[in-house]
Order: sequence, then C-alpha cells, then structure tokens
Amino acid sequence: MKKLSCYSGSFWLGLGATLLTAQLAMASGQSLLDKIKGATEPVDNTKIESAYTLTAKTVQAEETYQGGTFRVLARKDKITRYRCSVCHTDKKVLVKNGALYTHSDIAINHGKGQNKLECIQCHDEKNRDVLSDAAGTKIDFDHSYKLCGQCHFRQKRDWLGGAHGKRETYWAGERVIRNCTSCHNPHSPAFKTKMPETYSLPLDD
Ligand code: HEC
Ligand code: HEC
Ligand code: HEC
Ligand code: HEC
Repeated sequence: MKKLSCYSGSFWLGLGATLLTAQLAMASGQSLLDKIKGATEPVDNTKIESAYTLTAKTVQAEETYQGGTFRVLARKDKITRYRCSVCHTDKKVLVKNGALYTHSDIAINHGKGQNKLECIQCHDEKNRDVLSDAAGTKIDFDHSYKLCGQCHFRQKRDWLGGAHGKRETYWAGERVIRNCTSCHNPHSPAFKTKMPETYSLPLDD
C-alpha cells in the first residue's frame, strides 16, 4: 500500500510539471491565436502537410471557382470499355446488331418521350474516345461535368460552389470533388428510392 501511494505521488508531480511547461510555452508566444495574429501572408492550404492524402486518381478541373482551382475524381480509369477506339475504328462494322452484343447493358433512361436522350447527344459521333456537347466541342471523359452542365446548369453551379455533390477530401489541402458520373449513371441518372434496411425492434419490457 505504501509503495503505491508513493508512485501516485510522483505521478501527480510529473503531471503538474507538464502542465506548467505547457502554460509557459503558451505565455512565450506559442499559442495558435498568436500565430494567426502574427501571420503576414494568407495560408496556402495546398501546402498543409497534415492534409489527408487521397489514393484515388484525380485531375485538375477545367473550371475555376471564385478564381481558385480545384480537382475532380478521374473517370477514365473507371470506364471498363475505355479505350473505345479498340473496337470503334474507321473500318466498316460487319456484324449485325453489334451494339446489342457489345452494349446491351446500356439502356437509356434519361429524359422522357420527345426529350429522351440519344447516344450521340453525348458521345462524339466520329471519335468514340471522347464526349461532345451540342456545339460539337469534344469533352474528355474525365471532364464530363462540362457535358452535364450544358443542360443542368443549375446543378452545375451548385456543384461548383459545393452545395451539390460531395467533397472528397477534408477541409485542409486542395479541394477535390466528385465528378457528376462518380454518383450518377449518365445513361440512367436517377437514383432508386432507398428504404431503410433495418429498423429498431420495439422495446419490450
Ligand atoms: C468490344 C468492342 C467495343 C468497345 C470496347 C466499345 N464499343 Fe461501342 N460499339 C461496338 C459495336 C460493335 C457497335 C455497333 C456498331 C456501331 O454502331 O459501330 C457499337 C456501338 C456503339 C454506339 C452506337 C450505338 C447505336 O445504337 O448507334 C455508341 C454510342 C458506342 N458504341 C459507344 C462506345 C463508347 C463510348 C465506348 C468506350 C467507352 C465503346 N463504345 C466501346 C463495339 C464496342
Ligand atoms: C447523357 C449523356 C449520355 C448519353 C445519352 C449516352 N451516354 Fe454513354 N456515357 C456517357 C458518359 C458521361 C460516360 C462516362 C461515364 C463515367 O464517367 O463512368 C458514358 C459511358 C459509356 C460507355 C462506357 C461504359 C463502361 O463502363 O464501359 C459506353 C459503352 C457508352 N457510354 C455507350 C453509350 C450508348 C451505346 C449510348 C446510347 C444507347 C449512350 N452511351 C448514351 C454519357 C452518355
Ligand atoms: C442534352 C441535355 C442533357 C445532358 C447533356 C444531360 N442531361 Fe440529364 N437530363 C436531361 C433531361 C431532358 C432530363 C429530364 C428532365 C425532366 O424529366 O424533367 C434529365 C434528367 C436528369 C436527372 C434527373 C433524373 C430523374 O428522373 O430524376 C439527372 C440526375 C441527370 N439528368 C443527370 C445528368 C448527368 C449526370 C449528366 C452528365 C453525364 C446529364 N444529366 C447530361 C438532359 C440532359
Ligand atoms: C455526391 C454525389 C453527387 C454528385 C457528385 C452529383 N450529384 Fe446530382 N444528385 C445527387 C443526389 C443524391 C441527388 C438527389 C436524387 C434524388 O432526389 O432522387 C441528385 C440530383 C440531381 C439532379 C435532379 C434534380 C435535382 O436537383 O434534384 C440533377 C439534374 C443532377 N443531380 C445533376 C448533377 C450534375 C450535373 C452533377 C455534376 C455537375 C451532379 N449532379 C453531381 C448526387 C450527386
């Protein structure tokens, strides 16, 4: 018993000393507040070392937001059939119903009736390795937000500002956000209604 109290005594002494040194350090101008007040330049948050490092592939967005740059999640490495030009060459297609064999998993459920979208409203008619907008401008698969944004400009504006979609990294470090197609399937962009998968059992006594 005696030995134990002796140990705990030195513990409290040690703790007291630690607290004292911490307070001394603060008093000698080491506090965060003092650092902030003493700063002469704005912080470059891309250089914060403790920032979370993302393992997913990203690309620099071809857009700016409030004068700043940001990155988006890359898509080409996720598209299983990329490069499309492996099959889509200038040669004449000799098979019948080729699209059915090769792309029968793709059913368009995007726009209704008269507004139902067709393949070539998004995919370039000649070069299948790229997308293309209504003006015929070619768009890289990694930058498909440009394609979506020509019709869904409100969602794109919200996405740029961070109100639609999701930030991929924490608040320190460069801004990395999800691409439209990280979440939406471009061929059938609506989400299925989700139901809770489990529920709390009623409490019984
Ligand atoms: C394994 C071979 C193969 C690959 C890889 C492939 N395609 Fe195809 N695709 C075909 C064939 C065959 C057809 C039907 C013939 C045609 O229209 O050229 C077709 C048709 C299409 C069509 C026209 C469909 C229609 O009904 O007119 C589009 C659009 C298309 N492909 C897009 C793509 C894109 C985009 C990629 C890459 C992400 C891709 N394809 C990769 C074989 C392929
Ligand atoms: C609303 C625009 C849009 C329309 C309409 C559209 N696509 Fe796509 N398609 C895309 C985009 C964007 C991607 C890339 C998706 C991603 O980032 O994963 C894509 C991807 C693909 C791929 C590659 C899928 C994979 O994972 O291998 C094929 C093949 C394809 N489209 C064929 C077609 C065909 C055939 C049609 C018509 C029946 C069509 N698309 C209609 C926008 C469109
Ligand atoms: C050429 C114009 C056009 C392009 C490009 C386009 N869309 Fe659409 N989108 C439409 C139309 C039209 C509708 C149907 C609107 C309605 O029914 O009110 C729609 C509907 C949607 C919806 C709502 C679906 C629902 O039923 O709730 C989503 C989500 C969507 N698009 C996402 C995308 C994404 C992501 C892209 C880019 C890959 C894209 N769109 C590209 C025209 C377009
Ligand atoms: C983090 C995932 C995510 C990203 C990234 C994302 N969306 Fe959405 N989007 C959603 C969800 C969730 C909804 C709501 C779906 C619902 O209510 O059924 C939605 C809804 C929509 C709708 C339907 C109308 C509305 O506002 O509810 C459109 C159109 C749309 N998104 C377009 C886009 C476009 C264009 C981009 C890229 C610029 C984009 N989305 C990026 C998740 C995302």
